[in-house]
Amino acid sequence: MSIRVIRDKKSLSPLQAYALKLAERLGGASPVFLYWKGRVALYALLQAMGVKLGDGVILPAYTCVVVLNAIFYAGALPVYVDVRPDTYCLDPDKLEEALTDRTKVILCQNTYGLSADVEKVVEIARRRGIYTIEDCAHGFGGAYQGKANGTFCDAAFFSTQWNKPFSTGLGGFAVVNNQDLIPKVEALEKEKQQPTLGETSLLRQLIRMQRWLVRDWSYWNLVALYRWLSLYNLILGSSQGGELDDIAMPKNYLKGLSAVQAREGLHRPGPFGRAAGPAAQECRDLHRFPGREGQEPRGPRTFSKPQLPEISPAGQQSPNLPVGGRKGPGPPGRLVLFPPASY
Ligand SMILES: Cc1ncc(COP(=O)(O)O)c(C=O)c1O
Repeated sequence: MSIRVIRDKKSLSPLQAYALKLAERLGGASPVFLYWKGRVALYALLQAMGVKLGDGVILPAYTCVVVLNAIFYAGALPVYVDVRPDTYCLDPDKLEEALTDRTKVILCQNTYGLSADVEKVVEIARRRGIYTIEDCAHGFGGAYQGKANGTFCDAAFFSTQWNKPFSTGLGGFAVVNNQDLIPKVEALEKEKQQPTLGETSLLRQLIRMQRWLVRDWSYWNLVALYRWLSLYNLILGSSQGGELDDIAMPKNYLKGLSAVQAREGLHRPGPFGRAAGPAAQECRDLHRFPGREGQEPRGPRTFSKPQLPEISPAGQQSPNLPVGGRKGPGPPGRLVLFPPASY
């Protein structure tokens, strides 16, 4: 679903309305395409960029395994580049030595809402004719140098999975900024599978259960239960059992977003208002870097050795995270790893 096909605003389907809202939220200059998950959006972008067997795709050394898998499914070779210790994002100073004639794409990940040195990465890539993709799975609602995350590279993808800055249960979307790529992503729309009735009704139940059951005190137990059930394919997991152990592409991987997810995206407080849910709070808590309040999302921070993020003094918020959320003191110095290892 692309906003390019939308003409008459009054008769929009939930999918069209959602795509339009997202595109408007990102400045309205680029079309949005909706997918079942963020990883699927990445896979579609790699396909549209013509990534094929033997091509190299650069990614930050600290990422989610499903990103790596999507690269394998496209037949490419993932090449890790180390991250900066202050942002956990790809270090542009280490980038050039990893580039070869086979490098086709550079993935520029926004980690925990902290922007990479994206302009520098894009500049290096353009000089060498390499595509760039912003991985904004953690970055919706943030900005870098005054520009919305997702608008810097040839394309970007976002995740709206359970614990992302805003959630549609599962879900993802791509924003295509490079005009030449738009027809290629549009062409892939025809190949997209539709989520089955079983999948969408299960997801609807899970979203309802999340609303009723997830509280501060129950959150981590429910997360553990959800992961355990996913591992044995007893529930509609963020990843199905086996998906993380194998590099074989799951069946019907290239799948679109369902109307259930689109409605959730449109009506939940979050994407177009305040950020909701424990995940958003967790994300904010984790990013309370001392001294970041009111600053641009990043700036060179020099540490003599790698530092872990600290829980800051009360009430600070990363400027690169969605607005809103709890005021007042954060939890006492507890470091929560996010995203957790077992995705
Ligand atoms: C950095 C990063 N990229 C991509 C993804 C994939 O998103 P999804 O679970 O929607 O496929 C994740 C998921 O947690 C992530 O953390």
